[in-house]
Amino acid sequence: MRLHQPLQWILLFFFLLASSFDPLATSLASDDAQLPKVPCESPNYSSFPFCNTSLPVAVRARNLVSLLTLPEKIQQLSNTAGAVPRLGLPTFEWWSESLHGIAVNGPGVAFNGSVRAATEFPQVILTAAAFNRTLWRAVARAIAVEARAMYNVGQAGLTYWAPNINIFRDPRWGRGQETPGEDPLVASEYAVEYVKGLQGEYDNGEAGSSSMMLSACCKHYTAYDLDRWGNYTRYIFDAQVTQQDMEDTYQPPFESCIKEGHASCLMCAYNQVNGVPACARGDLLEKARKEWGFDGYVTSDCDAVAIIYEDQQYSSSPEDSIASVLKAVKLGKVQEEDIDRALLNLFSVQLRLGVFDGDHAKNRFGHLGPSNLCTQEHRELALEAVRQGIVLLKNDKGLLPLRKHEVSSVAIIGPAASYTSVYGGDYTGSPCNPTSFLEGLRSYVPRTTFAAGCMDMPCETTVGFEEAIDIAKDADIVVMVAGLNLTEETEDLDRHSLLLPGKQMDLVRSIASVSKKPLILVLIGGGPIDVSFAKEDPLVASILWIGYPGEVGGQALAEALFGDLNPGHLIDHCS
Ligand SMILES: *[C@@H]1O[C@H](CO)[C@@H](O)[C@H](O)[C@H]1NC(C)=O
Ligand SMILES: *[C@@H]1O[C@H](CO)[C@@H](O)[C@H](O)[C@H]1NC(C)=O
Ligand SMILES: *[C@@H]1O[C@H](CO)[C@@H](O)[C@H](O)[C@H]1NC(C)=O
Ligand SMILES: *[C@@H]1O[C@H](CO)[C@@H](O)[C@H](O)[C@H]1NC(C)=O
Ligand SMILES: *[C@@H]1O[C@H](CO)[C@@H](O)[C@H](O)[C@H]1NC(C)=O
Ligand SMILES: *[C@@H]1O[C@H](CO)[C@@H](O)[C@H](O)[C@H]1NC(C)=O
Repeated sequence: MRLHQPLQWILLFFFLLASSFDPLATSLASDDAQLPKVPCESPNYSSFPFCNTSLPVAVRARNLVSLLTLPEKIQQLSNTAGAVPRLGLPTFEWWSESLHGIAVNGPGVAFNGSVRAATEFPQVILTAAAFNRTLWRAVARAIAVEARAMYNVGQAGLTYWAPNINIFRDPRWGRGQETPGEDPLVASEYAVEYVKGLQGEYDNGEAGSSSMMLSACCKHYTAYDLDRWGNYTRYIFDAQVTQQDMEDTYQPPFESCIKEGHASCLMCAYNQVNGVPACARGDLLEKARKEWGFDGYVTSDCDAVAIIYEDQQYSSSPEDSIASVLKAVKLGKVQEEDIDRALLNLFSVQLRLGVFDGDHAKNRFGHLGPSNLCTQEHRELALEAVRQGIVLLKNDKGLLPLRKHEVSSVAIIGPAASYTSVYGGDYTGSPCNPTSFLEGLRSYVPRTTFAAGCMDMPCETTVGFEEAIDIAKDADIVVMVAGLNLTEETEDLDRHSLLLPGKQMDLVRSIASVSKKPLILVLIGGGPIDVSFAKEDPLVASILWIGYPGEVGGQALAEALFGDLNPGHLIDHCS
């Protein structure tokens, strides 16, 4: 008996089954501490064809598959691929994250060795607002350098699950911040630059080629922009998409990511697309391979395949869930050739990355190490991304730029003004040297005072208002930092209102009306915020959107307020 079509399709590809295979993993994988990091450097394995770099990658991958037993094969189908000691293969962690810098969301990254920090670039929605392909490519390249450097000291993987190129259609979406926005063209161009920057020159797997710097992953395929809203979750949500919207809106970023960017990974989404789980949409996956020339590996979003069975109740029996692949193979429900096909894709990516080669890979990227992280060059690039992305939304009577010699004191208000962990948005790691808005302003105006105003970003009470109003009264200029953080918008959490959270709006209004000082409203966050009240309020002189600016936020904001960069350039050009 064969599985019904959609599940059959899933099995042609690679999925995450980490938990399902734990028992096997413990029985088969032994401690690989004694294994060489690169098997082909050891005379024990170097004569195997998979070690012969004069052969095409496809031939080497086929050789590897042919050497494995079925249990060993199944072990490779998890994000933490098991070691195969008799062939010198070490464990391989497929899951690392690098959305806007090396992030700790996946098990592949740890800041616990000689590398303690990595550059935290601005969240993607801000960098995207620069509309600058050169910048996008440069940021991805810098991330790749830091990632390879961390890989070389055993603190990160080589396969990264970024970029997130879903269309930010629903403004409530908690992960919209991770994307280049709602425009299919911008998202497509961003995808191409990110992938090229991360992967380096395109390596088509011909003989002698193992030159891919890292592997990037176009995610999440497709029509995903809901996480958790009311009773809806991404695990069961069924996105209803017309054929036209599919072609015009949702597919272009993925098509570009693969066709032009040559991404080596595609991740299918949790949600259903027109009634079928995205990971079971064989037609969509086939389109990627056949029409777009996709030659990498497919991964599901974490546990998406298990969810198909458990939450979406799409499969009819536990046997139909691939949680028991081995049993399924025995029962003839899964063909070993399907597993082999998935393995060929996986090994091909590893071979293109030079994972098994040793010297060859070392020659290209082996020189990178801890000194290539947190460099001045990368910090400057992060600053450049904020400078180019920041947007001036209002500037009555030319209040901005402020003139340093005319401002003797500034009051900065808002919990985020001094709390740098808000600045990264989601998918962050360990920033090198984060500077707060407060610190940034103090470097321009030593007499800068601070009050949180609200206890926290949700701002549910007026506790703190009085102190904020007091410092505002005593200053020449008031900077009010309002907006969102991950308590409002993130993975697994969509927004319910587009207004400022809690009593933030009341705080802005109270300060503006009571202090009678020129007020600059700085908006932090990834999702759109309805600030009509401030746009119309003459007491709010200027409004500046700063997205999630990453670790250089403090310096960038101060530069923008004091005219060392001109965030109005876009407005000037367009008016
Ligand atoms: C190579 O094989 C020898 C003999 O079986 C063994 O003692 C040694 O540990 C192996 N070396 C590696 C790096 O696997
Ligand atoms: C590697 O492959 C090439 C091309 O087939 C072959 O000529 C060469 O002998 C192989 N090298 C080894 C060490 O097997
Ligand atoms: C760092 O963390 C990783 C993953 O948690 C762990 O495997 C590794 O042993 C740790 N290394 C050190 C030096 O603590
Ligand atoms: C785009 O970004 C690059 C890199 O930061 C910069 O050199 C270039 O001037 C930018 N282009 C424009 C039009 O701003
Ligand atoms: C959500 O689910 C709860 C419990 O099942 C139900 O009472 C409520 O009406 C649902 N809300 C919506 C908006 O569907
Ligand atoms: C949001 O910001 C507040 C500071 O106001 C902080 O206490 C809280 O931990 C942040 N939440 C998250 C999830 O980052």
